[in-house]
Amino acid sequence: MNKLSPILKWAGGKRQLLSHIIPLIPETFDTYYEPFVGAGAVLLDLQPSKGVINDTNIELMNMYTIIKNAPKQLIEILEFFEQQHCKEFYYQIRDLDRNEYQFNKLTDLEKAARTIYLNRTCFNGLYRVNKQGFFNTPMGHNSSIQIVNKKGIMGIHHFLNNSDIKILTGDYTICLSTVTEKDFVFLDPPYYPTNYNSFVRYDVKAFDVEAQIQLKEKCDELTKTGVRFIETNSDCEEVRSLYTDYSIIEVDVRRSINAQVDGRRGKELIICNY
Ligand SMILES: C[S@@+](CC[C@H](N)C(=O)[O-])C[C@H]1O[C@@H](n2cnc3c(N)ncnc32)[C@H](O)[C@@H]1O
Repeated sequence: MNKLSPILKWAGGKRQLLSHIIPLIPETFDTYYEPFVGAGAVLLDLQPSKGVINDTNIELMNMYTIIKNAPKQLIEILEFFEQQHCKEFYYQIRDLDRNEYQFNKLTDLEKAARTIYLNRTCFNGLYRVNKQGFFNTPMGHNSSIQIVNKKGIMGIHHFLNNSDIKILTGDYTICLSTVTEKDFVFLDPPYYPTNYNSFVRYDVKAFDVEAQIQLKEKCDELTKTGVRFIETNSDCEEVRSLYTDYSIIEVDVRRSINAQVDGRRGKELIICNY
């Protein structure tokens, strides 16, 4: 099995924590569930034979579907974008979502290319939308950034086609409605908002304190039904006291992306119910 890595930079991406998370995952389970998949660092490292992946981010999940079904056409558009790349082109592509009519005329293929292009070229790879849902990250300064990662796209394409992976878009609770005690769930929600600037807005709807409490209740339900899960979250008193009934491992992280807007730096918690 060739190890795969995310093709996107993603706030809260789990690449750095793989060496802590992967050894904790049970060796056998039926279906792998990742309801907050983001750029999918754990999914791509593990490459389960059967899984359900989900995120509320429509553009992100559309990208996985396009990588699964039309990777070569996606690469062609990205190569065109790479040739055109300049400040003016960046803002032209970024601002397509300001006009709903114009945005809806784009094909899913074009939308997936836009998502990858903006992620690769925007400031710090930060996927951020404002309250109207418009992508509002300015262009980044890295002129040598690789926009087309053919090997990465084709690797993910082969994995998604050789495994039985269901791609869903929506709230994590809907994704978890089919989970059984034979399955394994990896939960990587937006971090607990520890201060006003905490980055919880991947989407129009922020994942606030109320959402964190509901997630803990969902974890209790999973535990009651015998479903094994691992969750990662920020290292703060609020998370520690929410999950007192569970095993908690503290791990060090070095954050390059979002060091300013991320509510926490330095440590993260891995919470486990088995
Ligand atoms: C910390 S990131 C996941 C990072 C991912 N593990 C990685 O390695 O890139 C959290 C993700 O949760 C998604 N999200 C936010 N609210 C959600 C919800 N209610 N249901 C499902 N996904 C949600 C965000 O769009 C974001 O991609």
